[in-house]
Amino acid sequence: MSRVVVVGSANVDMIVRVEHLPEPGQTLLGTDVALRTGGKGANQAVAACRLGAPTLLYAAIGTDAFGRQTREALAGEGVCLDHLIEVDGSSTGMAMIMVAADGENTIVVAPGANHALDASATGGLAGALAPGAVLAAQLEVPIDTCLAAAGVARRAGARVVLNAAPLPDPGQPDFAALLRVVDVLIVNETEALALAGRPAPDTPAGWIGLAGDLLRHGPAACVITLGGQGAVAHDGTTGWAQPPFAADVVDTTGAGDAFCGALAASLAGGVSLADAVRRGCAAGALATGMLGAQAALPTLAQLERLLGEDRVSGPA
Ligand code: RIB
Ligand code: NA
Repeated sequence: MSRVVVVGSANVDMIVRVEHLPEPGQTLLGTDVALRTGGKGANQAVAACRLGAPTLLYAAIGTDAFGRQTREALAGEGVCLDHLIEVDGSSTGMAMIMVAADGENTIVVAPGANHALDASATGGLAGALAPGAVLAAQLEVPIDTCLAAAGVARRAGARVVLNAAPLPDPGQPDFAALLRVVDVLIVNETEALALAGRPAPDTPAGWIGLAGDLLRHGPAACVITLGGQGAVAHDGTTGWAQPPFAADVVDTTGAGDAFCGALAASLAGGVSLADAVRRGCAAGALATGMLGAQAALPTLAQLERLLGEDRVSGPA
């Protein structure tokens, strides 16, 4: 299997469970605070690594206790941390997460050290990438860093997977340039609508068409994740829908990262985009089963089990 190189964020997530998400101005009583490692970059790296991909993470942490916690957790997973930098005097990124009884969440991220992951931090990237490898980026780190990394990946013959989350202003020049060098763009439904600048389609065919429309921004293929509805994708020639897998939802935090990490690992393993999307959906469903972004990220055995069950009982 080829390598997955993740360029992205590492955070510590401060998670509080609530009955329902608060209204503006409302004070709610929640549960105890749970502190868990998170960040879209770190989550996607752990997702890929648990599925057996040799995984390298380019990220930045602070010189605080949360940075140490992050390093230990990622090292324990087997993610290569040769390019995890520590930013002196900076705090590790922190996400405040509220999880409602139905598993939905709201997230606010204070980026801290993630802002310091500048293009110079991606030294050595060319040597880490080769044809077959996959670069996976998200946008909790500076866009110009992702743009520089994507350029290196293209020149090395590796594929570029961009999870455009959080979505920047679509008119931002670095973002526009980045979209033009992406092989697979992954967005959720909110991000897809904002990028397309139009209201939600009301049919599955409409969502497939929307994925096709987003290719005008430059990516070779686009996947829209639809939570409990599965995903749709378009590769410029064909558009299709991937049905969802059954899930026992406790916490949806990290489901999108499970999808992206699994898709990247699958592409690095040499499967087709359609197969990678199917594996991503299965990983996303499994990831919702426990509190926290990384706890329920599936192992290869867990993923294969769900895929196997689906072959017996699911849609053909
Ligand atoms: O995608 C989920 C992640 O978003 C959380 O782990 C949090 O850190 C934020 O980055
Ligand atoms: Na979860």
